[in-house]
Amino acid sequence: MSGREGAIRLRTPVEEDHAGLVGVVDEWWGRHMQASLPRLWLQHFAGTSVMAERDGSASAVGFAIGFVSQDRPAEAYLHLVGVSPSHRRRGIGRALVDRWISQAHERGARHATTIAWPGDPAALAFLRAVGFRVDDGPGTRPLYGTPSRTDWNREGDDQVVLHRDC
Ligand SMILES: CC(C)(COP(=O)(O)OP(=O)(O)OC[C@H]1O[C@@H](n2cnc3c(N)ncnc32)[C@H](O)[C@@H]1OP(=O)(O)O)[C@@H](O)C(=O)NCCC(=O)NCCS
Repeated sequence: MSGREGAIRLRTPVEEDHAGLVGVVDEWWGRHMQASLPRLWLQHFAGTSVMAERDGSASAVGFAIGFVSQDRPAEAYLHLVGVSPSHRRRGIGRALVDRWISQAHERGARHATTIAWPGDPAALAFLRAVGFRVDDGPGTRPLYGTPSRTDWNREGDDQVVLHRDC
């Protein structure tokens, strides 16, 4: 993959990448996200995560963080995927998810799950474009036009649950 500033490199992150990533998530998401990226993700799930950076630069232009479930070894969970606003729509998000999925497959996962807020059409369009399907099974109800599950993480928290094969 190459961008205007040179090639984009994918690599496995390490714990030392945490400060750089937590420092950009609020800007990349446009809302408070730091609480969703505590250091433990880079301590315990770096091997099932992916970072994108420009060749010759130490700063990230994207990342995908997730894990293969200990309790459900055939399942992987994609916690966060984000790309710098100045590098979007160039295929970096897709490349991150593709790599993340193949790493999860190598570790034995055969299904992947993620969630997104029903009022975030860009995130939903992206996740669908990279192969996730919206769970529209029993118990879902349409919110902003997308089948959603209510009270997912707490009362009043609505989420779209999405799945794809690994
Ligand atoms: C969502 C996000 C990761 C996409 O990253 P990206 O590098 O721009 O994505 P890609 O260039 O690989 O896009 C792949 C496809 O997804 C779809 N897509 C991506 N961004 C989209 C958007 N804003 N609106 C509609 N569709 C979009 C398109 O089909 C795109 O293919 P195309 O560019 O050929 O049309 C990025 O916009 C982002 O970081 N957003 C904030 C964080 C977020 O919402 N993360 C997802 C939920 S955790």
